Amino acid sequence: MYIRTIELVLVFTKMPIDLKKIETEALENIEAAESSDNLESLRVKYLGRKSEISGYLRTVKDLDADDRAEAGEEVNRIKKNLKKAFEGKSKELREKEVSEKMTKERIDISAPGKKIKEGSLHPITQALRDVRRIFNSMGFYIVEGPEAETDFYNFDALNIPKEHPSRDLMDTFWIKKEEGMDNYLLRTHTSPMQIRFMEKHNPPFRIVVPGRVFRHEATDATHEIQFYQVEGLMVDKNVSLAHLKGVLTHFLSEFFKKDVEIKFHQSHFPFTEPSVEVFMKLKGKWIEIAGAGMVHPNVFKAVKYNPPGPDDWQGFAFGIGVDRLVMIRHNIDDVRLLYGGDLRFLEQF
Ligand code: FA5
Repeated sequence: MYIRTIELVLVFTKMPIDLKKIETEALENIEAAESSDNLESLRVKYLGRKSEISGYLRTVKDLDADDRAEAGEEVNRIKKNLKKAFEGKSKELREKEVSEKMTKERIDISAPGKKIKEGSLHPITQALRDVRRIFNSMGFYIVEGPEAETDFYNFDALNIPKEHPSRDLMDTFWIKKEEGMDNYLLRTHTSPMQIRFMEKHNPPFRIVVPGRVFRHEATDATHEIQFYQVEGLMVDKNVSLAHLKGVLTHFLSEFFKKDVEIKFHQSHFPFTEPSVEVFMKLKGKWIEIAGAGMVHPNVFKAVKYNPPGPDDWQGFAFGIGVDRLVMIRHNIDDVRLLYGGDLRFLEQF
């Protein structure tokens, strides 16, 4: 209705006075605009398709020729004028807004940084990494095996038949037997991987098997119910205990970064013959760190290698207690600290 009134006024007076008013009002508003958004709505209001000016322009064709030219010229002048004002203001506002944003979002590159709290590797993880690296440098392959084993791999194939007393020496976590399934247990040592590896590979070879093992026994300062071992197995012609001693001495010297002295004590394991316990000299005291020996012929039989003869395969095997190495390395007097998850302890490494 309002637009119609203007049209009528314009048509009858032939003088678009209201256009002038609109122009003045628009220029004032443009000048007063405070933001780009604000300015954009003004642009729609004064120059958009539904604006009074556009509406008027649509009626110009109905005027007679002289008036039409005059009115057309006038509208175009106003439009041009407003456009110029919009552009000028828009540029001004954008500059203002950018500079405001820059002040607000300024990053103070001279501000002191926040310290990022770094975690560290668990001392056992660090030790296992060293174990892999050092044995690898001596030509040993690193292999891993399952923590849940069958009694065949953990015992029988290692010359520990059922009812054999040495089964009792390793108190075992048995897994509930299911109908028609093998007897499963949590491996009590890493030695089952000797069997798994030899079933699939022929000599000569040398491997180490780092891994977690489990024993159902009371814990104390030197015994945990779960701990880590590194199994070693080397099978070749003419392998002897002297090679075993050389390999272990080199490994320990690298691991502790100093010359290490070791000695063997006679011992007994069903899967080695002869068997030894490995002791390492530390501050004048001998500390037991591993079990070892020459692979028992019955173990070779279980994996269908040649029966022992002067020209046949020989091998040495060892099982090092990784936790013991870690305790020696860091002077830790209780193995249980390694599994307690106490940050005050762990943050020292
Ligand atoms: C064995 O487990 C044999 N399988 C080792 C072996 C491998 C012998 C190959 C011959 C040939 P033993 O039970 O002694 O042996 O364990 C080996 C090492 O594991 C020990 O010397 C000790 O360092 C570590 N160890 C044993 N029991 C625990 C325990 N409860 N907590 C922490 N470390 C342990």
